Amino acid sequence: MSDELAMIPAAKPIIGDDERAAVDRVLQTGMIAQGPEVKTFEEEFASVLTPGREAIAVNSGTSALHLGLIAAGIGEGDEVIVPSFTFAATGNSVALAGATPVFADIEPNHFCLDPASVRAAVTERTRAIMPVHLYGHPAAMTELQAIADEFDLLIFEDAAQAHASKLDGTPVGTFGAFAAFSLYPTKNMTSAEGGMVTTPDQTLARRVRLLRNQGMEKQYENELVGFNARMTDVHAAIGRVQLGKVLGWTKQRQDNAAFLSANLTGVTVPAVAAGAEHVYHQYTIRVGSDGDGGAERDRIATALREEYKVGCGVYYPIPNHRLPSLAVFAPGLELPETERAAQQVISLPVHPSLTQGDLERIVEAVNAVAKAGA
Ligand SMILES: Cc1ncc(COP(=O)(O)O)c(C=O)c1O
Repeated sequence: MSDELAMIPAAKPIIGDDERAAVDRVLQTGMIAQGPEVKTFEEEFASVLTPGREAIAVNSGTSALHLGLIAAGIGEGDEVIVPSFTFAATGNSVALAGATPVFADIEPNHFCLDPASVRAAVTERTRAIMPVHLYGHPAAMTELQAIADEFDLLIFEDAAQAHASKLDGTPVGTFGAFAAFSLYPTKNMTSAEGGMVTTPDQTLARRVRLLRNQGMEKQYENELVGFNARMTDVHAAIGRVQLGKVLGWTKQRQDNAAFLSANLTGVTVPAVAAGAEHVYHQYTIRVGSDGDGGAERDRIATALREEYKVGCGVYYPIPNHRLPSLAVFAPGLELPETERAAQQVISLPVHPSLTQGDLERIVEAVNAVAKAGA
């Protein structure tokens, strides 16, 4: 309740001397576009996070999704089942590939695709399911794979928020025909901007490599109509340093989350599914009651920020199927758990830069604000 308190930021990218030195090292070579640093980053990324998969670096997580879809042959007339409770890039990438995003509901405990809702959304045009490992919690891959097998569908993972997350010991990014990671600054590791496609399929990998570079393998012998979605060696240099730290940072996020879950009262703390390794890209609580239109959540979020200087975020306040940009794909659609989550979630700081004092301040603030509304 004090004006002198410093704001605890909701997220905090960690860029230090190692990243600066790596950038300088690449800049000094004079070769700064896509080159050997990107190639090494791809190999190291696969070896640390998605063993046995090919990794292809691109300029954003959105490009990773978009190019992955095109490389997998998804286009006009195809439907891809996606969650509505996610960042818009998931559905956008399907629409940009010329296909139709079909929105399914989430299950309430982990905020990821509900297999029953996915099954109900399958039509004869469905080609794929694109689960999002939201907030760093793995989606229900076993159940989703069973549906994919039954209807002969592909699985594409949106792993933008889930570096190093696992389900039953299997890393996310190794389940699907391809997976897409984001390396945006607030993600669990960053390359400033960037993305990574991972795939077990050499043909798909080659197509993504072509698509990111105007369709060229050999210069001026363009095989496909492609993009410029290349990652630069400068970005790869930052990514390589961060890759060396991401597992340690993940442990810190998990420890921070454990402290919050053990001490918060009056709110619903994140649940972790059996066999799931949650990497807490976001630590997301539920507050408020059904049918209040998000009023209680908004009261709590405002009080945390303004009175207690605890940064927090609402990811995501408007379900994708109701966004002005994507609603055209979902006339009249109702997704009750998605609507409920959009009105009840608040993500608290969980990043590795938090001190014990910060964590105690967050707990005190949330417990006081939640109690005040009870
Ligand atoms: C679930 C999800 N998918 C895709 C993306 C897109 O990644 P980028 O911002 O790197 O394009 C994001 C990034 O915010 C995301 O959270």
